[in-house]
Amino acid sequence: MANESTYSLMGGAETIRNIVQAFYPKVLAHPDLSPLFPTDINPVMEKQYMFLTQFFGGPDLYTTEVGHPMMRARHLPFEINETRAQAWLQCMREALTEVDLSEELQAFVLERLSGPAYHFINTSE
Ligand code: HEM
Repeated sequence: MANESTYSLMGGAETIRNIVQAFYPKVLAHPDLSPLFPTDINPVMEKQYMFLTQFFGGPDLYTTEVGHPMMRARHLPFEINETRAQAWLQCMREALTEVDLSEELQAFVLERLSGPAYHFINTSE
């Protein structure tokens, strides 16, 4: 595992695409999360695809196409409390169980996303 990126261990582009496709319907169906997102979710899905690709060690698609990730700053316009961070992670947990990832990788991926999710909390409301 030392020299291989999480991205390739996960199964590369196809798996990241599947995760994003499994994840957003859950986000849009979640009462705590859906009000934050636009009706047309496709651009968000595309950016998430690019971001997760580079976050897990694949090509730097997000930086190339969008710019510096600055993810906490990009989330500041949205009220993110602990409940929403947990809801986001729960949707991701469910998405990861839907795609063909080993339990070990699921746990690793979720752990890597937990840090940013809690870091994006910007209100206690
Ligand atoms: C903590 C709970 C989170 C909430 C409530 C949340 C919510 C949102 C919202 C509302 C948007 C903007 C949608 C729009 O364009 O109108 C967004 C964009 C995005 N989020 Fe999150 N998010 C969370 C956590 C995360 C995490 C943990 C990551 C990845 C580490 C992430 C990655 C992204 C990306 C890549 C975008 C697109 C940014 C762009 O516009 O370029 N989010 N998120």
